[in-house]
This record gives sequence, C-alpha cells and structure tokens, in this order.
Amino acid sequence: MLHGPGRHSVDFSDICRADDIWAALGPKPNGPWCVVLSANRNKPEIRIVMSMITLREITAATVRVVCALETREEQKRFVAPNALSIAQAYFEPRAIFRAVYADEVPVGFVMWKPADEAEVAYLWRLMIDHNHQKMGYAKQAITQLINLLRDAGYRRMQTSVVLGDGGPLDFYRSIGFVETDAMLANGERVLTRSL
Ligand SMILES: CC(C)(COP(=O)(O)OP(=O)(O)OC[C@H]1O[C@@H](n2cnc3c(N)ncnc32)[C@H](O)[C@@H]1OP(=O)(O)O)[C@@H](O)C(=O)NCCC(=O)NCCS
Repeated sequence: MLHGPGRHSVDFSDICRADDIWAALGPKPNGPWCVVLSANRNKPEIRIVMSMITLREITAATVRVVCALETREEQKRFVAPNALSIAQAYFEPRAIFRAVYADEVPVGFVMWKPADEAEVAYLWRLMIDHNHQKMGYAKQAITQLINLLRDAGYRRMQTSVVLGDGGPLDFYRSIGFVETDAMLANGERVLTRSL
C-alpha cells in the first residue's frame, strides 16, 4: 500500500509483494521511511526516504492542527481525542505533552507524567493519525521518549491499555512492554517496561 500526502492510498498488493520490492531495493531501513515519487515525467523515479521523528512542544500556532489529528474510527475507543488530553493536562501540572513530527509534518501526539512510584513514568496518551500509521512513527516516537525519560532519571515506564480487538496491546508488546496483573479502576490493563 502506498499512502499519498492526502487521504489517498494505492493498493499494489495484486501486482507486487513487499518482500520482492525490498529484495530489489536493498535492505529495509531500520526506522521510519516514506516513498517519494518524482514528478518529472522524463525521469520517473521512486525513492525510499527515511523520516526524522521529533517530539515538539505544541504552540498557539500548532494546537489546532494537532487537535485535528485523528485515529481510525474503530480505534477511537482506545484513546481520547488530543483536545481532551491537552485539557486534562491543564489540571495535571506534572503532565508533559508533545506533538510527534515526521520531518516537518505533525503526525501524532504523546503525553506522560510521573507515576506514583519513584523513578517510574506513566505514558498517559499516544496516538498516530490514521493517515500516518504503520510507518514506524509510534515506535520511533517511543524510542525518543525513552531517551528523554532516561535523561530525566526515570528507570521504568508504565502505561495502560483498553483490551480488545484492534487495540494497542500487540503494538506495546512489540516495543518491549509486558503485561502486569494490575488493572486500573476503569478496566485498563497496566503494562510495564524497564528503561
Ligand atoms: C498504536 C499506534 C500508536 C501505533 O502507531 P503506528 O505508528 O502505526 O505504529 P508503528 O508503525 O510504529 O508500529 C511499530 C510496530 O508495531 C506494530 N503494530 C503497530 N500497530 C499495531 C497493532 N494495532 N497491532 C499489532 N501490531 C501493531 C507494527 O507492525 C510495527 O511492528 P514492526 O516494527 O515489527 O514492523 C496507532 O495504531 C494508534 O494511534 N492507535 C490508536 C490509539 C491507541 O490505541 N493508542 C495507544 C493507547 S493510549
């Protein structure tokens, strides 16, 4: 599937397999990447370009675009809208939130706060807009967050997930979180990962 800059995507699965494409292009990059199609008709070209993921402060100039980022409809029960997360942070002074940027494009949102336990950070919210999912952005954003938390003296990260089909549990497992026996009062399962 090739995703365009807008909401367009093209499914090539009938005519080519991803493994064949990577075999022809060389090793799959170890990090987020995107496909760049040249607009030059005399020299058609497809390039695989690595994206740089950064966590950036949200400002008066960017808050609207960050609040407009959305998950897929069926994912909405797993995470609050970004506007609500930012409003909740207003009442939780220890919360820190950032926009996730892929190069210069805002693609997601992440929010964390200290947990009740010493040296433990609680990953409160994480989302990647539906137009930008499955490109390694969340994984890279968490890598950035881990570095940031280590530098701030944290030794462990916790999060909690709504269990259910299409939920983020497998994503968190794939980046090193393990399930605990603990459940929050709202029914979310607590996950943990050392830093
Ligand atoms: C969960 C979420 C943040 C993942 O974002 P993403 O940018 O698509 O994830 P990535 O592309 O970085 O995926 C990293 C790895 O996790 C895997 N993965 C991603 N989403 C997955 C899912 N729903 N189920 C299983 N595996 C998943 C990817 O295949 C990838 O594996 P790989 O490294 O072996 O290729 C995104 O799907 C989302 O915003 N979901 C809705 C909100 C939500 O549930 N947030 C978490 C609770 S607060």
